Amino acid sequence: MDLFKTRSNQPEPSEINHAQPPRRRRRIIVALTGATGSILGIKTLIALRQLNIETHLVISKWAEATIKYETDYTIPNIRALADNVYNINDMSAPIASGSFRVDGMLVVPCSVKTLAAINSGICDDLICRAADVVLKERRRLVLAVRETPLSSIHLQNMLSVTQAGGIIFPPVPAFYVKPSSVDELVDHSVGRMLDLFDLDTGDFERWEGWKK
Ligand SMILES: Cc1cc2nc3c(=O)[nH]c(=O)nc-3n(C[C@H](O)[C@H](O)[C@H](O)COP(=O)(O)O)c2cc1C
Repeated sequence: MDLFKTRSNQPEPSEINHAQPPRRRRRIIVALTGATGSILGIKTLIALRQLNIETHLVISKWAEATIKYETDYTIPNIRALADNVYNINDMSAPIASGSFRVDGMLVVPCSVKTLAAINSGICDDLICRAADVVLKERRRLVLAVRETPLSSIHLQNMLSVTQAGGIIFPPVPAFYVKPSSVDELVDHSVGRMLDLFDLDTGDFERWEGWKK
């Protein structure tokens, strides 16, 4: 038998189609919880839409209450900003499983209640379950925890989530941009948060040394 003979049913290397299937859009889960600062979550959704990121949105019951109290946005307005929206009790949603590939998750704003639930691993709603999945799959989890002052319980929960691979991102204002509006401070926080996903909103001033 001639081992070096080309087999007629095998394609020549030059005939093999090396074209890869088209890469999917980047996917990010966005969760809004009942801490004050709902505008941060809303502007995050707007920025991700402008960056053509596929968003998967969950809104908690108390987030709905703060959105209504703090902003002029309606819940249907906000839902319309996302590609996919899930009920917080829907444990059958794709984002409840690690086999559904996502590039990460942002909880913005993040209440200390949701921080505590994520830290404890109690997956009794879709936000905590999705965050738990993101951590176990070693994907990026960013929590924009919004509370002040902080108790040792909050600090311990933040440390422990950080040790599990999460990133705690308290949306603290950057006064060095000399903001002329709250909107500008919000855009700065949203921009810095999305930096953590290697996404550039191009919508805020970066520090480039003292201005001459
Ligand atoms: C107007 C308003 C502002 C709130 N601000 C905060 C806050 O900044 N941080 C926080 O952790 N909880 C805050 N809470 C309390 C949370 O909404 C509450 O703990 C709730 O259970 C959080 O649930 P969730 O994480 O499922 O949304 C606020 C509640 C209201 C009504």
